[in-house]
Amino acid sequence: MRRIAVCPGSFDPPTLGHLDIITRASKLFDKVIVLVSRNAGKATPSFTATERMLMIQAVTADLDNVVIDILDGLLADYVRTVGAIAIVKGLRAVSDFEYEFQMALANKKLYADAETVFLTTTAENMYLSSSVVKQIAYFGGDISHFVPSAIHDDITQRLIKER
Ligand code: PNS
Repeated sequence: MRRIAVCPGSFDPPTLGHLDIITRASKLFDKVIVLVSRNAGKATPSFTATERMLMIQAVTADLDNVVIDILDGLLADYVRTVGAIAIVKGLRAVSDFEYEFQMALANKKLYADAETVFLTTTAENMYLSSSVVKQIAYFGGDISHFVPSAIHDDITQRLIKER
């Protein structure tokens, strides 16, 4: 049996923290589907779903068992449809836990056959988030320590244009 995991997120934009979680998940599962998803609780994304998908494709090109898809619906339905056994999420700090725990329980209720697996972020990525990256880039700061180099210019050009 191929053990498939889904790694969902907004990825607006993808960061080194996301890439670390995806890379580690790719070592634990036979196939990882990175799922660009909509978070109904967040503002309109800065990047389109296709742009986010292409950026993740660019930074995971060397990971043979990673594929990217776009979700426009419920995560639990997608997980069931592809026969995934796990939903992988990164956990940065205690502040993430309550929200992630709530989503894990809701997804378990919607589809009981998949487990949510939390990977703790590395210490250097603990403070990192897409919002932090956007804030810094928007005001012209250096985000080279926060995003993969292959997508650095795409991200800065877009966010500077938003000013
Ligand atoms: O990176 P994020 O914004 O923390 O990711 C949250 C995301 C996109 C994974 C979550 O909002 C999600 O699963 N959205 C898809 C719609 C859905 O199934 N929502 C109910 C989750 S309990």
